[in-house]
Amino acid sequence: MTIRETLRSATERLELHHVSNSRLTAEVLLAHSLSVSREHLYAHDDRWLTDEEAQTLENFIYDRIGGVPLQYIVGRQEFYGRYFHVNPAVLIPRPETEYIVEAVLEARETAEQSVCPPFILDIGTGSGCIAVTLALEIPDATVFAADISEAALQVARENAGSLGAKVGFVCMDMLDAVNGRFDFIVSNPPYVRRSEITWLQREVREHEPHVALFAADDELEGYRRLVRGAEDMLNPAGFLIMAVGLGMADGVQALFGAAWTKLPTRKDLQGIPRTVIAKKKPLR
Ligand SMILES: C[S@@+](CC[C@H](N)C(=O)[O-])C[C@H]1O[C@@H](n2cnc3c(N)ncnc32)[C@H](O)[C@@H]1O
Repeated sequence: MTIRETLRSATERLELHHVSNSRLTAEVLLAHSLSVSREHLYAHDDRWLTDEEAQTLENFIYDRIGGVPLQYIVGRQEFYGRYFHVNPAVLIPRPETEYIVEAVLEARETAEQSVCPPFILDIGTGSGCIAVTLALEIPDATVFAADISEAALQVARENAGSLGAKVGFVCMDMLDAVNGRFDFIVSNPPYVRRSEITWLQREVREHEPHVALFAADDELEGYRRLVRGAEDMLNPAGFLIMAVGLGMADGVQALFGAAWTKLPTRKDLQGIPRTVIAKKKPLR
């Protein structure tokens, strides 16, 4: 079949199996099978596929119909304008996680934070999207990133290497093995309640790593550990910035005691709080 015919037939099959954005998905999968851009498909739509190319596409369509997220099939996801390699060992970076990056960049504008090159720690780095982005956006920063999953750290290291970011990686449980002082501690921790597993999209539930999704039985426990740890590890006037799940912002904010100044949450376009921010009080 030609590219034009293949696209039509792939779109129809994806549609039949209720895959969303079937035409776009067909284009992305075919372009990935041929290692070309989507634009290339339109410029050469009368070219015939080889048997091998057709088989590769077939495998990709089979996976997508079976619920494998498109990002895992093509192996990448855009975050803050850069492409990150992803595989099933890491959460696929979400657009709302970019609020963490924005919050750090904005906090850097304040008087105390803009003076010195900052020390930044990202807990639960996954693909490394936050840590790598911050290292590239703040070139004089010293950035460390931690995860409990060695498989995730492998992906994060690969992304730091391919994007040219200098990040130090460490495998650890939350802040347990940290020895140092930071100006920013950031985290997008697992926050989905186990009881909510059936509400998750099939793609997420069956293919994204559960260690990245699910909180402990008490979904605030991870946040409690982060707040407690950050109280010791942050420099005075340092920031703790954490992503929160739906309806969790108030509960997370209530964890901050007298040592902290709570700052306004960052909300998404629908007005849902996505990022909780607190500043450690400066020494008197
Ligand atoms: C929601 S994902 C966030 C990944 C990435 N930062 C992002 O925003 O796309 C949570 C990450 O925390 C890691 N994680 C889970 N429990 C952890 C723990 N106790 N200590 C450190 N990392 C943990 C998971 O392996 C996962 O990579």
